[in-house]
Amino acid sequence: MTEQVRPKKVLSGMRPTGKLHLGHYHGALKNWVRLQNEYECLYCIVDWHALTTDYGDTELFGNNVVDMAIDWLATGIDPASSSIFLQSAVPEHAELHLLLSMTTPLSWLERVPSYKEQQNRLEGKSLDTYGFLGYPLLQAADILIHGAECVPVGGDQAAHVELTREVARRFNHLYNAAVLVEPQALHTRVTKLPGIDGQKMSKSYNNSIALREAPESVEKKIRTMPTDPARVRRTDPGDPDKCPVWQFHEVYSDEKTRQWVREGCTSAGIGCVDCKKPVIDAVLAELEPIREAAGPYEENPDEVRTIIVTGSERARESASTTMKQVRSAMGLDRW
Ligand code: TRP
Ligand code: SF4
Repeated sequence: MTEQVRPKKVLSGMRPTGKLHLGHYHGALKNWVRLQNEYECLYCIVDWHALTTDYGDTELFGNNVVDMAIDWLATGIDPASSSIFLQSAVPEHAELHLLLSMTTPLSWLERVPSYKEQQNRLEGKSLDTYGFLGYPLLQAADILIHGAECVPVGGDQAAHVELTREVARRFNHLYNAAVLVEPQALHTRVTKLPGIDGQKMSKSYNNSIALREAPESVEKKIRTMPTDPARVRRTDPGDPDKCPVWQFHEVYSDEKTRQWVREGCTSAGIGCVDCKKPVIDAVLAELEPIREAAGPYEENPDEVRTIIVTGSERARESASTTMKQVRSAMGLDRW
């Protein structure tokens, strides 16, 4: 007998930082698109999360939400099969966050590795706030409220999924109810693409290539990328391992091209201009269909808003179901 199995639910979120860049694409978005074939996907624009570090930034919610959603859609997130929704349009996330804050020990939040790290990294910004400490718990609420079974992780996010599991287990134990689902971390293949200077790609480091960037600008950025500093003259041999262009070859080039680079670079057989050519071609080829798909949405941002509103309504339904069970487990429905 064959049983109809419901696809598992995947949930992930991204802060609305506006137009996305190639680092977002290779590090997350491309994987999100792929996951749609196998899972029921919920993709959340986490505007409250953005406030945990940028609470003073009133620009934040201008065009950033719609701009980011356009990039999601243009890369292939399909609103017919996935829910694209806005965190603040589903206030149940906040209600669950509040209730979970009652049962979560402070020490669990203080020991999340990203807490101290980010505080040190974002020095100059005052991050000794209640909201910043609680941000992994807000993320836990995002996941638990939809009963998501899987969360794609990369980098420091694994610790957040682990916290989510502990929070769910504690809740179910305290209220003797099987309400919250412990999610699994989904260790999927993602690629780290550095910025054009070899550092982490980030808009604020001025080293990024936007997904909808004009081809001439993309070409110029790659053409002027720094290379192995030891290769001053064309006749000086270089070391690809000391060159950010090589990291782009690792993402974009096939084995044959990579061989050509390694040999040509270390023997001074090729120049850096030659070496960059295939990277320029590959990046332009990758971005062209994205820019094209974005066009109609750019012309009609109201359609994008409708997609977000519709997705948020759908997300609200699933969130309300969990909230009913949570309130009941905690005795909040007995008055
Ligand atoms: N914390 C994630 C980040 O800052 C974003 C996020 C919020 C998220 N809620 C989530 C990721 C739920 C996965 C699942 O990048
Ligand atoms: Fe970098 Fe290529 Fe120049 Fe070598 S040849 S230094 S890998 S750009």
